[in-house]
Amino acid sequence: MAINREIGNLPVTELVKQSGLRHIAFIMDGNGRWAKKRILPREAGHKVGADNFKTIVRYCKKIGIECCTVYAFSTENIKRPQREVEALFRLLISFIEEAGEERDIEFRFIGEPGQLGETIGRRTRELEDETRGRPYRLNIAFNYGGRAEIVRAVNRLIAEGKTAVTEEDISANLYTNECPEPDLIVRTGAEMRISNFLLWQAAYAELYFTDRLWPDYTTADVDEAVRVFASRSRRFGGLDKNEPQGAGEGK
Ligand code: IPE
Ligand code: IPE
Ligand code: MG
Repeated sequence: MAINREIGNLPVTELVKQSGLRHIAFIMDGNGRWAKKRILPREAGHKVGADNFKTIVRYCKKIGIECCTVYAFSTENIKRPQREVEALFRLLISFIEEAGEERDIEFRFIGEPGQLGETIGRRTRELEDETRGRPYRLNIAFNYGGRAEIVRAVNRLIAEGKTAVTEEDISANLYTNECPEPDLIVRTGAEMRISNFLLWQAAYAELYFTDRLWPDYTTADVDEAVRVFASRSRRFGGLDKNEPQGAGEGK
């Protein structure tokens, strides 16, 4: 999509503010292909991808984005070879060990990491408890599935005794209930699908797909995604803001 000159020239922090970009979500895909291109084991791609994720999240915070959500391990990723799955679990634990460096980020794990073992369950809970109340939010989707999240929400409502539910009830029972819905979902790695990520919350998210493999994704690529986001017209089913609105409409 063409980016007009005004948007092209504004600083990215200004664009974040002006466009109301509060929550960005990343489907961090392409680690395996990145490694394969270099004749390395897939685990090597995950290691570089995990390091890169810290850089990208820090940058999003720096440019004024309040909330990031990253897709790190889907409920379906358990189908992968044991060696790869174990490497991903080890990377999660070492990430948690170093997460103390991030002084102003509140970490939240979305999905069911606790089902992957006692250590992962305890370490993820501890990090959440230690960082509660901090100004920036990072949701890490680990053992996460969008359908499972909706089913969980409905089951919680049934357990409360509800016999009919509203959209608000479901939203309030999602893992992300304390965050605004994602404004922008970026998927790296050239696939154009959502792979069971934030199915409910993505109803009106802007989607942005890039061929860049996650380990190669840079802060300049974030700037580009923000510029594209700022160029889009989010209508939410209504009309463009600059279209004439009929009386009593266009709220
Ligand atoms: C994304 O990279 C990370 C996870 C799914 C854990 P992939 O491992 O899916 O990389 P590709 O898609 O095989 O290149
Ligand atoms: C989605 O990537 C999950 C993560 C990035 C963690 P996948 O690589 O698992 O998705 P598919 O299998 O290509 O749809
Ligand atoms: Mg993949």
